[in-house]
Amino acid sequence: MGRIAVSTGRGGVGKSTFVALASRYLDPPKLLIDLDPDESLADMLGVDWNETRKKTISSALHDIMKQDRGVGRTGYASLPNVLRPVVKDDCLYRSPEFDLLTLGTKFTVGCYCAPDAALRDLIPLLSKNYEAVLVDSPAGLEHLNRKVAADIDDLFVILDPSDKSVKHIQRVKDITGQLKFSYKNFYLVGNHRFTQEAQEYFQDTGNAYLGKLDFDPNVKQHNLEGRSLLELPENSPAVVSVREILTKAGYTMQQRD
Ligand SMILES: Nc1ncnc2c1ncn2[C@@H]1O[C@H](COP(=O)(O)OP(=O)(O)OP(=O)(O)O)[C@@H](O)[C@H]1O
Ligand SMILES: [Mg+2]
Repeated sequence: MGRIAVSTGRGGVGKSTFVALASRYLDPPKLLIDLDPDESLADMLGVDWNETRKKTISSALHDIMKQDRGVGRTGYASLPNVLRPVVKDDCLYRSPEFDLLTLGTKFTVGCYCAPDAALRDLIPLLSKNYEAVLVDSPAGLEHLNRKVAADIDDLFVILDPSDKSVKHIQRVKDITGQLKFSYKNFYLVGNHRFTQEAQEYFQDTGNAYLGKLDFDPNVKQHNLEGRSLLELPENSPAVVSVREILTKAGYTMQQRD
C-alpha cells in the first residue's frame, strides 16, 4: 500500500507547484492525481494531456453513461466496478517518471457525485500498485466535503500569510473531523509569499509546521512558458525547500542526476 499524500489550501497558494516539485523525489512507482477541474497539473509536469489521448475520469464516466453499460441513473454503486478496467486502459497516463490520473471537467449538469464516488473507491485500490500517491486538490474546502481522498497518510495544507489562512486551518480540521477523514499527519506548509513573521506565527499554532516553499522566479517563468517544473535545476530555491519539507515529513529522497 503506497503512502497517500494530499495537497490542499486556498486558491492560488501553490498547491499544484508543491505536488509537481514533490513528485521529483517520491519513490517510484508513483501516481499523481489531479482533482482540479482546471487540469493544470499535467502542464506543470510537461505532459500535453491532449497528446496523450487519455481520458479524464469525468469524460470516461460520461462515455460509460452514454453507452448505458448497466449503470443507469441510480447505479452509482456499480460505477467503480465498471470504471476500474476503463481507468487502467483509457485514463491512466504512464511514463517512466510517474503515472498520472486527472478527474477532469464534468460536461453534464449536476454534482460531481459519480466521478467522486468512482475515484473514492479506486484510490485505495490503485495505491496498492504504487510506493506513493500524491493528490493535487482544487482550491478551497469543497473537495474535502466531497470526500474523494479520505483515507490518507499526509495532509499538506499550503498557506498564504493571511488571517484567512488561520481560519482555513480550523475549517479543514472541522470538516475532516466531522466527515471522519482518516489521516496520519496534518502538516502546514508556508507558500512563497511567507514572511519571517508569518513563519514564526504558524510555527506557534500547535500544528506541525514544516517550513516554506521558497520563492523562485523561474517557477512562474516555467509556468508562463508551459515548461515542466521537473526541468528546474536541483539548486532552485523552490526545489530545495520542497525537498527539505518532504524530509521533515519523513520521506526518503530519490536521488536525481
Ligand atoms: N515557490 C514559488 N516561487 C515562485 N512562484 C511560485 C512559487 N510557487 C507557486 N508560485 C506561483 O504562484 C502561482 C500559483 O501557484 P499554483 O498554481 O501552484 O497554485 P494553486 O494553489 O495550485 O492554484 P489553484 O488554486 O488555482 O489550483 C503560479 O503562478 C506559480 O507560478
Ligand atoms: Mg492548482
